[in-house]
Amino acid sequence: MVRMVDLIEKKQKNELMTTEEIKGMIESYTKDEIPDYQMSAMLMAIYFNGLSKEELRDLTLAMAESGDEIDLSAIEGIKVDKHSTGGVGDTTTLVLAPLVASVGAPVAKMSGRGLGHTGGTLDKLESIEGFHIEITEDEFIDLVNKNQLAVIGQTGNITPADKKIYALRDVTSTVGSIPLIASSIMSKKIASGADAIVLDVKTGSGAFMKDVKAAEELAETMVQIGNSVGRDTMAVISDMNQPLGEAIGNALEVQEAIDTLKGQGPADLTELCLVLGSQMAYLGGVASSLEEARAMLEENIKNGKALEKFKTFIEAQGGNPEVVDRPEELLPQAEFKIEVKADEAGVISKINADELGVAAMLLGAGRETMDSELDLAAGLMLHKKIGDAVELGETIVTIYSNKENVDASIKKIKDNIELSDHAEPLTLIHEVIH
Ligand code: URA
Ligand code: CA
Repeated sequence: MVRMVDLIEKKQKNELMTTEEIKGMIESYTKDEIPDYQMSAMLMAIYFNGLSKEELRDLTLAMAESGDEIDLSAIEGIKVDKHSTGGVGDTTTLVLAPLVASVGAPVAKMSGRGLGHTGGTLDKLESIEGFHIEITEDEFIDLVNKNQLAVIGQTGNITPADKKIYALRDVTSTVGSIPLIASSIMSKKIASGADAIVLDVKTGSGAFMKDVKAAEELAETMVQIGNSVGRDTMAVISDMNQPLGEAIGNALEVQEAIDTLKGQGPADLTELCLVLGSQMAYLGGVASSLEEARAMLEENIKNGKALEKFKTFIEAQGGNPEVVDRPEELLPQAEFKIEVKADEAGVISKINADELGVAAMLLGAGRETMDSELDLAAGLMLHKKIGDAVELGETIVTIYSNKENVDASIKKIKDNIELSDHAEPLTLIHEVIH
């Protein structure tokens, strides 16, 4: 293999690295044979000079192959995975999994716990009593073949190269590089066994990508990587200038997902799920166009099949399916409900999504560190969104808490929702890329 110092020089001069050079570099770095200081210099060179299409493909594949790769070939059909670049109160996965499965596309979901404003999909599902993801790989495959849907906990050592590189980027100011972000995300999806990938790239104040142009570039780069390695990939650029839907919290989002599967969910969440779900059903080969896919999804919300699929899924993994019919009784409930009211009349002009996420986390809805204990009942319900008019004293947000003192959350909420005499209209779906 070439010496790392020569490879750094190559990238520094913006010359192209070969497939073998990139593969060798990632293999050696994974085995600790290349020191962090040399990889840091390489990352900085990539940060400034970018990567060609071929280099991007090679880097992504080398990272995907650096650890365990999940084999889903025993599952019939085209396995489509969805990835979101993160946001606040994003309930889409909980809705999409049963919705897409109900039209016949297999949803084989691997899920982990995480840090953030609310728990991961796993934590949310665990607010359903008895529901568990401790199933064997064989059970997982059998369940997807039978019901088109199952969730299993993340195991194995997926993309160790990405883990090491991500940690290094964090401390070398090289996180904000589109080729590095794109290859990082796509390497994990590829190693997780997806045949096809749907990406939800968020943009706005509550997103990692604050402006639409950067989000577009990231989405296009990821779509190009996916297609260059033989995984059909599509992307949606969606708005995160305010939280999605109304619920931020674990049990609250399960309730919101049930409402949405019944056709009674918030308009923005419903629309985004239909757009992403259409791409998943289309790439999953169960519809011949996006329009046909959307019609199938809408039909299964109307005729109750999407909700029925959610019940089957819950029961198959140990949960009580009646939670769907009696959520008020069977989901964890908070002891205190505190209404946050408007101090003046006006129109909601700004909601700082990130900070509302922090307000929910302070109540126990999310983890600050991996040891934090979640309160599955805790969270927020937003009764007003950007563009809505409010009267003096009208309730804007309801806090759900098991702690009586929620002063810090109330302050965060009040400081981060602005009223004005008018609001700029928001676009939910900025672009669809395929
Ligand atoms: N998420 C990832 O997985 N990787 C990045 O580089 C950025 C966000
Ligand atoms: Ca939500």
